[in-house]
Order: sequence, then C-alpha cells, then structure tokens
Amino acid sequence: MKPQSILFVCLGNICRSPLAEGIFRHRANETGIAGTMTIASAGLGAWHIGNPPDPRGIRIAAESGFDISHQRARQVATEDFHRFDLILGMDRSNVEALDDLCPPSATADIALYLEYALGRTGDVPDPYYGGDADFKSAIVLIEEASAALVEKIFR
Ligand code: 4NP
Repeated sequence: MKPQSILFVCLGNICRSPLAEGIFRHRANETGIAGTMTIASAGLGAWHIGNPPDPRGIRIAAESGFDISHQRARQVATEDFHRFDLILGMDRSNVEALDDLCPPSATADIALYLEYALGRTGDVPDPYYGGDADFKSAIVLIEEASAALVEKIFR
C-alpha cells in the first residue's frame, strides 16, 4: 500500500524535517496530487514548539524556490503513530527514538528517510550547529530524496 500520509521527524523540527516537509509538498504539488495526501513534520524535542523553521533554512530554501516560512514546529505525539501511514526519521537516532515512543497498537510504518527514499543507508546531517553551507547541502540532499519519494509514492 502506498502511504497516504507522511510525517517527517527530526530532533528540533526547525531544520531538517521542515525542509523535508516543505520540499516534498512542493514537489508533490507539481504533480497535482499533493491534495490527496497529509504531509507534516514534527520534532522529538519540545524546545521549539510553535516556532518557525530556522531563519537560515527559510532563507536558503527560498533561494532554491521553496517557501517553508509558514510552517510551525510541533512535537511528536502518540496519536501520530495512528494518524500517519509512514513516519520518516531524518537520522538513525531519530528512528531509534521513534521506535521507543511507538505504542504497540501503532499502525504507522517507521523508516529512515534516506533509506526509504533513495535506498541509501545514511543520515541527513544536522545543520543546526553549522553554517549556510550545511543548510545548502541538507537542502540539496532533501531535494534529491523528495524527487525520489514523489516517484515512489505517486507513479
Ligand atoms: P533539527 O535540528 O533536528 O534538524 O531541527 C536541531 C534543531 C534544534 C536543536 C537540535 C537540532 N536543539 O537542540 O535545539
């Protein structure tokens, strides 16, 4: 079954997962079928609840044609494991944390983002403590993964 709802998860929900959400939504919109899907992101930590994405991510995404400025951070909730078909962790520690939080009755599949999208084991490096170049390389990687995800889910 192809997932009808996807939740992208990272630690803070201000750097990587908002980019994964916004860039995937943008690409899915281009195919004209994003409206049939639920696309969201959340963080494992509570530090940034209600905040917009990191300003560096907003700016560098905009330079690549993606508007993520309206998105707001929230924390992963137990209901997410029932509400979403697929929950993708941006790195392996995110996937481990999701596995720990996952209730036994969960219906969601949990997977590593790059592995699910590209068949490549690996993490999306966290640009939070880095600079503009780290945000840019995260965006390039997420663009590649988003294109693959759209192919995998919609074609
Ligand atoms: P993210 O990056 O998980 O890609 O959103 C982080 C953002 C904030 C923090 C850690 C990672 N933090 O510790 O506040």
